[in-house]
Amino acid sequence: NKVGFIFDLDGVIVDTAKYHYLAWRKLANELGFEFTKEQNELFKGVSRKRCLEILLDIGNVKATQEQFNTWMVEKNVDYLAYIEKMDASEILPDVPRVLEYLRKKNMPIALGSASKNAKPILKKVDLLPYFDSIVDGNNVTKAKPDPEVFLIAAENLGVTPISCVVFEDAVAGIQAANAAGMVSIGIGDAEILYEADYNFKDFTEIDDSFLELLLNKNHK
Ligand code: BG6
Ligand code: MG
Repeated sequence: NKVGFIFDLDGVIVDTAKYHYLAWRKLANELGFEFTKEQNELFKGVSRKRCLEILLDIGNVKATQEQFNTWMVEKNVDYLAYIEKMDASEILPDVPRVLEYLRKKNMPIALGSASKNAKPILKKVDLLPYFDSIVDGNNVTKAKPDPEVFLIAAENLGVTPISCVVFEDAVAGIQAANAAGMVSIGIGDAEILYEADYNFKDFTEIDDSFLELLLNKNHK
């Protein structure tokens, strides 16, 4: 009767949304239009390809297949330049405490991310050893809100989906967790993530007694 804990990466473990934003904004500016922080909200949890499609829509830019591919690469090269400079100081508050607690309780832990850069980021911030399984943008065919990423993670951990808990900062991620039959925990703005089973501003609000409840609770 183990409970599987699945963490999203961007915006849950590390605050990389700002780097995605800077890289997309640079591309938008090069193409001659603005890209705002508010518009960046739409990009959370969304695949790189889908993000570029939305960005080009925003700028009303038509692209050939070749241009599209070039811009995908360009954005990622810029993003990776930010990632290169990351270290453990960019782990979001109290994430290590929660991971440590779950590890002490011998709970299986997975990453469930849309990013194709998940592994190098975890390595950069030194959190790779906590994860029993990493499921990311390289392993999935259907993006969130499809539950595929979390279902694969549950299978890798050897736990049934209804015995899994998901931490997510994106609407699409909460919807994916719910569709998988998992307990969904929204990290961020509760008004945006209202579909989650539980909401917290960040991990500093998640104490040991709440984690204990997740371990003992009969799930959904
Ligand atoms: C998600 C982010 O985790 O990963 C999205 O929330 C991002 O903003 C997506 O587009 C894909 O990331 P990457 O690193 O493969 O470009
Ligand atoms: Mg996220």
